[in-house]
Amino acid sequence: MTKKIAVLNGPNLNLLGSREPDTYGSTTLDEIQQMVVDQSNKYQIDVDFRQTNIEGELVDWIQETGSSCDGIILNAAAYTHTSIAIHDAVAAIGAPVIEVHLSNVFAREEYRHHSYISDVAVGVICGFGANGYVLAVDAIASMLRAN
Ligand code: DQA
Repeated sequence: MTKKIAVLNGPNLNLLGSREPDTYGSTTLDEIQQMVVDQSNKYQIDVDFRQTNIEGELVDWIQETGSSCDGIILNAAAYTHTSIAIHDAVAAIGAPVIEVHLSNVFAREEYRHHSYISDVAVGVICGFGANGYVLAVDAIASMLRAN
């Protein structure tokens, strides 16, 4: 049966391409979506790719796709470092969540070193730019194959 994953993106990631390119690279979110779809096609995995600037919407989407999808790739952006609500949503769902960040958050400001998501995620990929999303597809595909 065809598997399905959700890729959920948080605040300001709609600005990728022009937003602080030295930190986040010059790849746009649309281009990242295409990279994710291309990689997922290799594994016959369908992709539901979304972005929101609103914390509650991200919570709603984690709840929704946590039951409708086989796994979630989540870049909660700044909410990673602030949101107990997103922690609780990830903890509440059955689907595995892979946390992704374009930048190496540990090489940046102290306030980015803590994540409310990492302890309830299966794993974390950070510091590999847009390619981190492709690595996350590989990780989720191998997990889903093993199940
Ligand atoms: C980010 C890292 C966060 O600290 C930051 O707030 C973002 C993007 C990343 O992908 O590197 O908006 O999640």
